Amino acid sequence: MKTLGFVGAGNMGSALIRGLITAGAIESENVYVCGHHPEALKAFQAEMHFNISEDIPSLIEKCDAILFAVKPYHIEKVLEGCKDALRGKIMLSVINGYDFDRYKALLHPDTPHLFIMPNTPCSVGEGVFMFESRHSLPENEHKQIEEMFSKAGSVFHLPSHLMAAGAAVAGCGPAFIAMVLEALSDAAVKYGIPRVLSYKLASQTALGCAKLQLETGMHPGVIKDGVCSPAGTTIRGVQALEKAGMRSAFMDAVDAVMGK
Ligand SMILES: NC(=O)c1ccc[n+]([C@@H]2O[C@H](COP(=O)([O-])OP(=O)(O)OC[C@H]3O[C@@H](n4cnc5c(N)ncnc54)[C@H](OP(=O)(O)O)[C@@H]3O)[C@@H](O)[C@H]2O)c1
Repeated sequence: MKTLGFVGAGNMGSALIRGLITAGAIESENVYVCGHHPEALKAFQAEMHFNISEDIPSLIEKCDAILFAVKPYHIEKVLEGCKDALRGKIMLSVINGYDFDRYKALLHPDTPHLFIMPNTPCSVGEGVFMFESRHSLPENEHKQIEEMFSKAGSVFHLPSHLMAAGAAVAGCGPAFIAMVLEALSDAAVKYGIPRVLSYKLASQTALGCAKLQLETGMHPGVIKDGVCSPAGTTIRGVQALEKAGMRSAFMDAVDAVMGK
C-alpha cells in the first residue's frame, strides 16, 4: 500500500491526517483527501501538503487504501455510490458501529476491509487505535497498516463484541478526560492560579500519571496511595471525590454511550 485516501476530514479524519503525516507514517504526497468544506480543506492542505480530490471516484482511482471518516448516518449512502469502484482496493473505516459483519454485507467480497476505532490524540502521536480482530485484509497489508498507525499511537486488537465498549472508553474518552482537566483547572483558578498555568498543571499531572501507570504497570490505586499520607490532605480530597460519586459518574458515562 502506497497511497491512502480519506473520505471526510472532520474532527476525526483531520486528526488522523495530521497525526499520520506528522509522525512520518505516510508521505503527504501519497495522501488524498475528499471533503465537503473546500475552504477549510484548502487551509488544512496549506499546512499538511496533501492532495485534494474533487470527488470520491477520483480519490478511489488514485488510492490503494481508502479510509472512511464520515458520520455513521452518511456511510451507507456514500458506499452506494462507490462500492463498485472499491473492488480490489483496501477499505478502512473508523465509523462507530460499522464492524466487519456490517461491511461484509455492504461491500463486494473482493474489497478487503478493516474497522479501526481511533481517538483524536492521534493528531499529536498519542492515539489509541483499536483494530477489530476480524478483518479481510491480506496479512502483509494488515501488518503494514498496523505499522503505519503505530507511528501515531498505540494499536490494540479487540474482538468484534468489545469494539463498542472500546469506543465508549477510548474513542469518547478524550471528551471525559478533557472535562477532568477543565474541572481541575477551574479549581486551580479558584485559588488564584492563572488560567493558562492551570491548564498546564492539570494536563502535565494527567500526562505524568498516565505515563507512570503505563511504564510501570502499577495499579492505579497504588499511584493514588503513594500521594495519600495518613491523616494527610490528599485523602480528604479523595473522600470529596468519592462523596461526589466520581467513580460511578464515569461508569454512568460509559453506560450512557453504550445506550444502557
Ligand atoms: N470525533 C471523534 O473523536 C471520533 C472518534 C472515533 C471515531 N469517530 C468516527 O469518525 C467519524 C467521523 O466523526 P467526526 O467527529 O470526524 O465527524 P465530523 O466532524 O462531522 O466529520 C465528518 C466529515 O465528513 C464529511 N462528509 C460527509 N459526507 C461526505 C462525503 N460524501 N464526502 C466527503 N466528506 C463527507 C462531513 O461534511 P458535512 O459536515 O458537510 O456533513 C464532515 O466534514 C464518525 O463516524 C465517528 O463514529 C470519531
